[in-house]
Formats: sequence, structure tokens, C-alpha cells
Amino acid sequence: MTLKVALLGCGVVGSQVVRLMQEQADDLAARIGTPLELAGVAVRRLGRRRDTDVDPALLTTDAEALVTRDDVDIVVEVIGGIEPARSLILAAMNSGKSVVTANKALLAEDGATVHGAARSNNADLYFEAAVAGAIPLIRPLRESMAGDRVHRVLGIVNGTTNYILDKMDSSGASFSDALEEAQALGYAEADPTADVEGFDAAAKAAILAGIAFHSRVTAADVHREGITEITATDVASAKAMGYVIKLLAICARSEDGRSFGVRVHPAMIPRTHPLAGVREAYNAVFVEAESAGQLMFYGAGAGGAPTASAVLGDIVAVARNLLAGARGPAESTYADLVVHPMGETVTRYHVSLDVADKPGVLARVADMFAKQDVSIQTVLQEGHGDDAQLVLVTHRATDAALSATLEGLRELDIVRDVVSVMRVEGEGAS
Ligand SMILES: NC(=O)c1ccc[n+]([C@@H]2O[C@H](COP(=O)([O-])OP(=O)(O)OC[C@H]3O[C@@H](n4cnc5c(N)ncnc54)[C@H](OP(=O)(O)O)[C@@H]3O)[C@@H](O)[C@H]2O)c1
Repeated sequence: MTLKVALLGCGVVGSQVVRLMQEQADDLAARIGTPLELAGVAVRRLGRRRDTDVDPALLTTDAEALVTRDDVDIVVEVIGGIEPARSLILAAMNSGKSVVTANKALLAEDGATVHGAARSNNADLYFEAAVAGAIPLIRPLRESMAGDRVHRVLGIVNGTTNYILDKMDSSGASFSDALEEAQALGYAEADPTADVEGFDAAAKAAILAGIAFHSRVTAADVHREGITEITATDVASAKAMGYVIKLLAICARSEDGRSFGVRVHPAMIPRTHPLAGVREAYNAVFVEAESAGQLMFYGAGAGGAPTASAVLGDIVAVARNLLAGARGPAESTYADLVVHPMGETVTRYHVSLDVADKPGVLARVADMFAKQDVSIQTVLQEGHGDDAQLVLVTHRATDAALSATLEGLRELDIVRDVVSVMRVEGEGAS
């Protein structure tokens, strides 16, 4: 008996799945207990040059016919995007196939439909590659940590933005120069919007939060800010204070445990935090759980072979389940916690103000923070005369209180400009 795999997509990831299935066929057969066979590969353009040797007889543009073929056991979707990926996955499940996908966009936008189809058809749905490429993260969260209570997930889940911010930090480059370099090296797309505006990270944050808190989360629940406004001055100022700026995906349970927040935004973290050492295009996810304590998962978050490694791991798991007549874990949303609004998020803030050089300025600024119950941890004055800037770091406060403080500060005649506002994460229990 062989298990037959239908592959949808043969691009960056799909071509590496084909290569690994071919090169490691014997090992995979030994690990599963039966050989895998590629039943067909659906693509958009038959004549396109592929990065790997694919038997032309396997290629087809009729993906629908391929996924519903009687002899296919497992469908691997690496096309990406919402349609036709969703319809093809549903067609596969409705005809009894289990599915492996790397599609974060679909799972974050309409995970309910896809997970629902898996449940009603008693099919497996595995998606390790959808978050942080090669890094084992979904299975540890869904399975290894199923006996624990996750409090917080803090991750660098987008390699492009990490590369850009790392370049800005190490060389003092501007955002646009660092982006250009990332594009030249193939770390950023010609249209970098999905990465630099945080959409890609937000999709991953939604998937991670849903798993961590056993609740349904979509990309629309995620508060999202990108990195396009980060200046070389912000980076230098963070550096001078012992921080580094990272684009973080943060999923955090509220203190009463009844809700959680999901957000993606740039933040300062201390240079001593384990995530601060994540350089270039690498990804890492830091998990804080009740009993396990702090865990960190680190590795290549993208790329053909690394992502295909995660896809292959899922194929093996699904194949083993099929042979055992078992199913892997289904979606778990029993906790049904609510996602709280961004205003209720509690964190610390770094605020730079361009202020008039007059006596009493500090007292009036401090008074505005006090009015909103935002207490100040440190104040620094940078520059003199007309160039004077006040740099304040607050204690923990809600986003709503900080916003109200900023509104009040902007109305003060002595505040010429609120130059920058950045959240500070990764310190103590923040
Ligand atoms: N690239 C990464 O590093 C990475 C990392 C993690 C997750 N992922 C996820 O993996 C998935 C695939 O990404 P990728 O980078 O491999 O994409 P890609 O290089 O653009 O490949 C997409 C493949 O899908 C095929 N395709 C497109 N529309 C199709 C259709 N209507 N019917 C059949 N085939 C169709 C394309 O065919 P042609 O070749 O004929 O155009 C191509 O082979 C996405 O969900 C992505 O988010 C990617």
C-alpha cells in the first residue's frame, strides 16, 4: 500500500516539497511505515520553469479534479491566498482527504470554515508551516503544551521586517535604505506592504492567539501597526537607552484571565531580552506559560526548504494518523474568551516630546501624565534651547490612558510636537 499525496502549488515552497519527497522517499517510507507517492501537482502555468525536477506527467491545471480523485489520500495546499485555496481545501475534505496547508492568510481570515470542514468530515488539518516557517510552534502549542495555561506569546514572526529593523539598528540606516537593501537581497517583495504594514504578522498572531487561548480569532481582531514610520532617530534613541526596536506579535491574556489582546506593532525591548538577539531575517517566538515558564522557539521563518521541512513533518504526521485510523487534534475554541479592545492593553511607553525651553515645562508635562493616572518612570532631557526634547518612559498604563495623555499634551502651548511614541515590552511581567 502507498499513500498518495496531491500537491497544490509548485512555487517557492511546493517545489521544495517535491524535492524532499523525492530525495527522502526511503526515509519517509520507513518513518511512516508505508511509502508516499506524489499523485499529481496542480499549478497555474504548465510551461513554467520549476526549481526542481517534476515529472511533467504529474502536472495539471485542474486542481479541483486532482483533489477529488479517489486514489488521493492527502492534499497539500501551498498555493496561498483565499481563493481558490479555500474551495480546493473544502473540496478535498468533503471527499474525505486530510489536508496539510501553509496558508496563514486563509486560516486567519476564515479558519472557522476550514476547521469546521475538517471536523465534519473527520479529516486532519495540519498547518505547522503557516506560522514562522520551519519553526516547530503550532504542534508544541497544540499538543506539547495542551496541559498548560499559556499567558502570553511574544513573537518576531516576520523575517522581512526583522531584517529591516536589524539593519537600521546595526548600521544606522533609514527605513527606506534598509528596505531597499532587503529587496535587493530577496528578503522583501517588490511590493512590501504585507510585510512592512504588519498584515503578514497579524495573520500569524491571529492563528497563534486562537491556539494559545483556545478561542476563535481572526485577522480582523488584531490591532496592527507597521514599521514604515520608524526613523533612524527612533532606533538610535532606543539604542542609547539599552533597547532595540522589533516588530512584535503579542497575544496576552488579561490579568483576570477572562479576555486577551492580540496586537502587532513595533516595540522597544531591552537588549538583554532573548528576542533582542534575533537578528537578520530570523524568527523567534517567546511563550510564557503557567507551569512551563518561559520557552523560546527560534529559527528560519521562511524560505522554500525551511518551510517545506514543516510541511513534510505535517505530511508524515497525517500519514501516520491515516495508517493508525486516528485523527490529530481538532481546532480547540472551547474557552471562547473575548478579544479586548486595544485601549485596555496594559504596557509601558516611551514618549519623545519637542518642548519649549521654558521654566516649568517639566512640571506641566508631568501634570498631564498624572491627570490620566499614567506614572512616569524616567525622564531625560536631550538637547538644549530650541532643540530640547523630553524623553519619558512610563510605568504600566492602559493604551486608552496613554492616548488621552497624548491628546492633552498636544494641546499644551509648551509642547511643539509629540515626536514619537513607542510601546516598551519584554520587561518583568509587562
Ligand atoms: N515562501 C515562503 O517562504 C513561505 C513561508 C511560509 C509560508 N508560506 C506559505 O506557503 C504558501 C505558498 O507560498 P509560495 O511562496 O510557495 O508561493 P508561490 O511561490 O507564489 O507559489 C504558488 C504556487 O501556486 C500555484 N498556483 C497559483 N494559483 C493557482 C491555481 N489557481 N491553481 C493551481 N495552482 C496555482 C502557482 O503556479 P505557477 O507556478 O504555475 O505560477 C505556484 O506554483 C502560501 O500560503 C504562503 O503564505 C510561504
